[in-house]
Formats: sequence, C-alpha cells, structure tokens
Amino acid sequence: MASLIKAFKAVICNKSHKLILFSCLFVFISTFYSNNLFSQENSDCIECHIDPSKCDVKVRVDHVTGDVEIVSMIVDEEAYAKSAHGGEDFYCVDCHADLEDIEGEHYPNLQPVDCITFCHDDPAAEYLESKHVSLMKENGVQPPTCKHCHAGEKSKRDTPRAKDLAHRADTIEKCGGCHEEYYHSYRNNLHGQVTALGHFDTDIATCVDCHGMHTILHSTEPESTLGSQNVIETCGTCHPGANDSFVKHIAHPQYKNIVYYKSAVAAILNIRKDPDQIWSIIKSPQIILTILFIMYVGILLQTFAGFGMHSLLSWLGTILDERKGKDSKHD
Ligand code: HEC
Ligand code: HEC
Ligand code: HEC
Ligand code: HEC
Ligand code: HEC
Ligand code: HEC
Repeated sequence: MASLIKAFKAVICNKSHKLILFSCLFVFISTFYSNNLFSQENSDCIECHIDPSKCDVKVRVDHVTGDVEIVSMIVDEEAYAKSAHGGEDFYCVDCHADLEDIEGEHYPNLQPVDCITFCHDDPAAEYLESKHVSLMKENGVQPPTCKHCHAGEKSKRDTPRAKDLAHRADTIEKCGGCHEEYYHSYRNNLHGQVTALGHFDTDIATCVDCHGMHTILHSTEPESTLGSQNVIETCGTCHPGANDSFVKHIAHPQYKNIVYYKSAVAAILNIRKDPDQIWSIIKSPQIILTILFIMYVGILLQTFAGFGMHSLLSWLGTILDERKGKDSKHD
C-alpha cells in the first residue's frame, strides 16, 4: 500500500505528469457537464420543430382560460431569436424542463412552462400580491398570467422585449380589454390618438407608462404612479417641466359618459334646495368638458341649421322666381 502511495506521489509531483493529470480531469469534467446539462442542444429540438413533415398544428386547451386554441408546433426561428429569450444562453429545456434528458421523440402533452419558480420570482411576487390582482379576484375576474401579457405575436414562446413596439400596442389592447370605458376615453385623448395612428414608441404614453406595469394602484392613492407623490415625475419623464397645473390635464376625457350629464341635470333640478351642489359639479373637470362639449355641439348645430335654412330659402326663392318668369312669358 505504502509503495502505491509513493508511486502516486511521484506521479503527482512530476510537473509534466501534473499537466497531463489536470488535462484529463478537465476533459472528464467538461464531457460530464456537456453530457448532462447540455445533452440537448437546441438544434436537436429545432430539427423536428421546423419540419412540417414531422410536426404540424395541435388543438390545445389553455389551462388557465379553458379556451380551445389551434397552435402551430413549428418554431419560427427568426421570431424566437429576436425574442427576449432568444439569446445563446437559453436552452429549450430551460423552459420545457420536463424534456430534460429526453432525446428525440417525446410524449405529446408537456407541463405548461413555469415562468416564476426559477427565473422571475420578483416580478411575480410584486404582481401576484398587488392590489390590482386582489381586486380582480374580488370582482370574479381571472387575473391575466405572465404569458397572457408577455405573449409573442404567433406563440407565447416568443416573449417580446420590453420596448418591442408590437408589444406596446398589444398592452393597450390587453388593459383596454378589461377597462373598456377607460380605453375609449384614452382614445379621445392626444396620447391615445397618436398611438391609434400607429406610433407606439416609448416617447408616447400607453396605459402602463402612466399607471405602472405590475403594481397598479388607484390614482387617488399617493404612492400610485399617478398619486400626489409621483404624478409629476411620471408625466415628467416625457414632459420635462411638468408642474402641478400641467398634471391637471384630463387623461380620460369622458364627455360622452351619460353619468356626468345625469349629475349635471340633477344638480340643476336641485338648485333651489341645494345650491352648493351646482358649484361642486361645475368645479369637476369632467363636467367642464361635458359643458364645453354641449356648447361645441350647440354651435355646430346652430351653424349648420343656419346654413341649411339659408340654402332652403334661397332654393325656394329661385324656384319661385323661375315660376314667375315662366308665367310672365305666357302672358
Ligand atoms: C422527433 C421530433 C421531435 C423532437 C426531436 C422534439 N419534438 Fe417537440 N414535438 C414534436 C411533435 C410531433 C409535437 C406535437 C405533439 C402533439 O401533436 O401532441 C411536439 C410538441 C412539442 C411541444 C408542445 C407540447 C404541448 O404540450 O402541446 C413542445 C413545447 C415541444 N414539442 C418542445 C420540444 C423541445 C423543447 C424539444 C427538444 C428537447 C423537442 N420538442 C424535440 C416533435 C419533436
Ligand atoms: C423562455 C422560455 C422558453 C424557451 C427558452 C423556449 N420555449 Fe417553447 N414555449 C415557451 C412557452 C411559454 C410556450 C407556450 C406554452 C406554455 O405556456 O407552456 C412554449 C411553447 C412551445 C411550443 C408549442 C407551440 C406554442 O406556440 O405553444 C413548442 C413547439 C416549443 N415551445 C418549442 C420550443 C423550442 C424548440 C425551443 C428551443 C429553440 C423553445 N421552445 C424554447 C417557453 C419557452
Ligand atoms: C397585466 C399585464 C402583465 C402581467 C400579468 C405581467 N406583466 Fe410583466 N410587464 C408588463 C408590462 C406592460 C411590462 C413593461 C414592458 C415590458 O417589459 O413588456 C412588464 C415588464 C416585465 C419584465 C421586464 C423587467 C422590468 O421589470 O422592467 C419582466 C421580467 C416581467 N414583466 C415579468 C413578468 C412575470 C414573470 C409575470 C408573471 C408573474 C408578469 N410579468 C406579469 C405587463 C404584465
Ligand atoms: C383581466 C382583466 C384586467 C386586465 C387585463 C387589467 N385589469 Fe385593471 N382592473 C381589473 C379589475 C376587475 C379591477 C377592479 C375593478 C375596477 O376598477 O374596474 C381593475 C382595477 C384597475 C385600476 C384601479 C385600481 C384600484 O386600486 O382601484 C387601474 C388603474 C387599472 N385596473 C389599470 C389597468 C392597467 C393599466 C392594465 C394593463 C396593464 C389593466 N388594468 C389590466 C381588471 C383588469
Ligand atoms: C397620460 C397618462 C394616462 C394614460 C396613457 C392612461 N391613463 Fe388611465 N388614468 C390616468 C389618470 C390621471 C387617471 C385619474 C383621473 C381620471 O380618472 O381621469 C386615470 C384613471 C384610470 C382608471 C380609473 C382608476 C384610477 O386609478 O383612477 C382606469 C381603470 C384607467 N385609468 C385605465 C387606463 C387604461 C386601460 C389605459 C390605456 C388604454 C389608460 N388608463 C391610459 C392617466 C392615464
Ligand atoms: C411616455 C411618454 C409620455 C408620458 C408618460 C406622458 N405623456 Fe403626455 N404626451 C406625450 C406625447 C409624445 C405627446 C404628444 C406630442 C406633443 O405634442 O407634445 C403628449 C401630449 C400631451 C399633452 C398635449 C399638449 C401638448 O404638449 O401637446 C398633454 C396636456 C399631456 N401630454 C399631458 C400629460 C400628462 C398630464 C401626463 C401624466 C399623467 C402625461 N402627459 C404623460 C408623451 C407622454
């Protein structure tokens, strides 16, 4: 035994032997790792998943919404490479973890990809514990998942990057899908009109630039992005020099909302009993807009009615004149 240890020591202590030993160790470790961690190169998966003769479309039930969807199994390599996870550091099996160590053909129904546990627990905690999510649950609304808001155009796989213009456009529709009234009033505002024209760059405000993305609080709460503590900073990112009076701007003009007309009429009917009511109503910016809208429509109507009357009368006049002319010829 002692002679064996001696021989081993001799090998270790010899410089060139040492080099050989470490090289062997390096080769051993790297083959061990490449066999286990990286046994499935993306190309193994892609080989099948770009070949329409090997995979096609599949009818699937969304496990959250229960919607039946027809999904293509073909991976659009270009769209994937451009997506947030398309870099060289990502392996298909990082996300499709149940295929780790499975080579070649695989069983058909995989576990839904889990965005949260290993990679994104921070935004998840922020979002899932937000008041927005608890309000949705209280209202019986199924909160959207990460994949719902961060879906690519063709596949949920192609998570768009934050500044992706198509994603910014999609976010307006996603928020607007649940908040229709605010969606329409956003469209009546300059910000919404510019995005409606197809300009979605980060210099123009979409819902999340004003309200925040994962933690959304009511605008009346001071810590909200639109609350008293933050609103100047929020608007100031795009409007340098924004001040107290600038942020009084009405982001959601609701002059078509019947509620404001009703409260204005109620206040007018009630003017004798409660004269203060009318003052509080007149101070409301939305009511001021409503009154301006009525005045604007009134002026338009008056103008067109005036023009219409003028044209009608002059037309009648012409006909009468022609008649007169004819009558005098006969005489
Ligand atoms: C031999 C060809 C082949 C290889 C290799 C292959 N797949 Fe598939 N894959 C398929 C087919 C076919 C389907 C559609 C199964 C069906 O219709 O139910 C599929 C479906 C899928 C699905 C959708 C599963 C679901 O639940 O709807 C995912 C995700 C997937 N493959 C990922 C991968 C990944 C990641 C790899 C590499 C580790 C890979 N595939 C390798 C052929 C292959
Ligand atoms: C960052 C995570 C991520 C990576 C990396 C990833 N995928 Fe996916 N993949 C998803 C998500 C999310 C879905 C949507 C289904 C779901 O929610 O489980 C999906 C769905 C799929 C589908 C089903 C089609 C569809 O649109 O739902 C296939 C096929 C697929 N992936 C193949 C691949 C292949 C091949 C690779 C490697 C080139 C890959 N994926 C890499 C997240 C990923
Ligand atoms: C209601 C829609 C919505 C939901 C749900 C949502 N996000 Fe986001 N998230 C956004 C928006 C909008 C942005 C800002 C622009 C962008 O990056 O897409 C964002 C940004 C991000 C970013 C970029 C980093 C950052 O903080 O700027 C990450 C990472 C992210 N979300 C992860 C998640 C994860 C994980 C979940 C699920 C727990 C999730 N998101 C749920 C809308 C959403
Ligand atoms: C799945 C539907 C759904 C989606 C998507 C959604 N919301 Fe909501 N949101 C709700 C519900 C439900 C409430 C609570 C009731 C209400 O105010 O309508 C709410 C409340 C709010 C509130 C008031 C919060 C409070 O504390 O009272 C704001 C602001 C808001 N959402 C903005 C947004 C923005 C911005 C987006 C996009 C990033 C968005 N919502 C996406 C359903 C949704
Ligand atoms: C320019 C900034 C801005 C943009 C863009 C914007 N909002 Fe608002 N939003 C506000 C302000 C300020 C309020 C509070 C005053 C009001 O109700 O008009 C508000 C109020 C709301 C409310 C009522 C709850 C609350 O916090 O007062 C909801 C819901 C809402 N917005 C949803 C949306 C949705 C959905 C979009 C995108 C379609 C959007 N907003 C775009 C600034 C904005
Ligand atoms: C992401 C950038 C962005 C944010 C955030 C933003 N705006 Fe704007 N806003 C714009 C752009 C771009 C225009 C149109 C260009 C222009 O004419 O200035 C605009 C136009 C306006 C206008 C029309 C007057 C003008 O300058 O032409 C007002 C008023 C306004 N915004 C108020 C606000 C208020 C108040 C907030 C915060 C609640 C806000 N904006 C947040 C980008 C933004």
